[in-house]
Amino acid sequence: MFSGSRIDLTYLEKHPKSKGLYSRARSVFARGVTHDARYFEPMPIYCVKAKGSRKWDVDGNEYIDYWMGHGALILGHAHPTVTRAVVEQARKGTHLGASHELEIQWAEKVTKLIPCARGGLVEFTSSGTEATMMAIRIARAYTGRSKIIKFLSHFHGWFDYTIVDYNPDYSPPLSGSYPLGVPPEICKYTVALPPNDIGAVEKTIEGGDVACVILEPGGASMGLIPTNEKFLKDLRKVTADNGVVLIFDEVVTGFRDAPGGAQERYGVTPDISTLGKILAGGYPGGAVAGRREYLSMLEFKAEGRRDPRRISHPGTFNANPISAAAGNACLGLILDGKVHPSINRKGEMLKRGLNDVIQDNRINGLAWGTTPSIIYVGFGISPEDLVVSDIESYMRFQRKREASQKIVSVLEKALINRGIHPMGSRLILSIAHTQRDIEMTIEKFDESLKELRSEGIIE
Ligand SMILES: Cc1ncc(COP(=O)(O)O)c(C=O)c1O
Repeated sequence: MFSGSRIDLTYLEKHPKSKGLYSRARSVFARGVTHDARYFEPMPIYCVKAKGSRKWDVDGNEYIDYWMGHGALILGHAHPTVTRAVVEQARKGTHLGASHELEIQWAEKVTKLIPCARGGLVEFTSSGTEATMMAIRIARAYTGRSKIIKFLSHFHGWFDYTIVDYNPDYSPPLSGSYPLGVPPEICKYTVALPPNDIGAVEKTIEGGDVACVILEPGGASMGLIPTNEKFLKDLRKVTADNGVVLIFDEVVTGFRDAPGGAQERYGVTPDISTLGKILAGGYPGGAVAGRREYLSMLEFKAEGRRDPRRISHPGTFNANPISAAAGNACLGLILDGKVHPSINRKGEMLKRGLNDVIQDNRINGLAWGTTPSIIYVGFGISPEDLVVSDIESYMRFQRKREASQKIVSVLEKALINRGIHPMGSRLILSIAHTQRDIEMTIEKFDESLKELRSEGIIE
């Protein structure tokens, strides 16, 4: 939102070169940006380099970065171990058109870390979206059934099957309208249910033809709407009792909530997991990992490559050596056990500090996070609003969130003007964020709230 306020004018003054680049970008990109989430009014910032917790834009402004590669950079920007591994591999070749040892080492680390993959198998893809596509295909092939259960506001990539009902703006929940470009015939195979509603899951499974349940185990959209732990346990039981494949989409939570992801943290093991982001150390990559009986749907059977009883999976950049080198380096550090105690402590410190500022300023707001190192900020949202377990509580949360986002879009700009770059209403941490970074963020958050109040945006 651009209103011409003092916050907007400061933003424009501080970013003349970004403005110039954006006008060029609009002549080559339909929406001026290359990821929906990077759309920003009147224009996004254009960055030139990043290191550790910091990044710099074309206008010479420095930021404490809380996008952290959309969650991929748990070690921070350009971590020396990862960079060294990538440069070394780039010199040896970026695509060998052949199998290589790094891909085996990478998969071995995944099977050590992720509970559902222990003694199981791994299949690499080029992105998280591709991983969830593959996981669903495996579930359908294995069960011979067609329907998918997903949950409202849970994000699994942008492809046809799981985009259904993802965004109430273009696909109002349970209204029967479909996202543009997705045929209604496809949509009818996806049943989008309210988060944490086990009764709705049971009823849908009773209706038959359900191949799998897929969810973000830590909660919708990186933990925005928390998942209830009991629900996860009930879901495990209901799916096992009915031969329905349980897929945890751990593209965000994998290697972040705990070394073994949300499944380790909550003690609930799915049949299959999808992975991405941290998996490839900040480079492009994804994977499906899980029990052998499911992943073996990809195995070449006696009849050879064209065997109709198997799933085929080409993909030019599957397990490419650069991503494999980065992923190995990153997962190696996670296996050493040095990442999680530190990052979780920082998450707690940030969340507490933001909530203290909210309280000190007597503002009706909240900082929360289901994943310990991803913190959300909202206005007019209380802890009770986060308890979502049916369509009414889901819709109530959405209404409050919509009102909150109007304020957040101004807060975001006020923070950017002060050298803090949040990812919308969320702040994603890395181990590179220092205590001083967090203290500075809390100070700048305080100043920004005061500015919003003086501009009449919050009471
Ligand atoms: C939970 C979840 N699943 C899947 C995806 C898609 O991953 P990618 O952007 O790598 O295609 C994302 C992306 O943010 C995600 O958050």
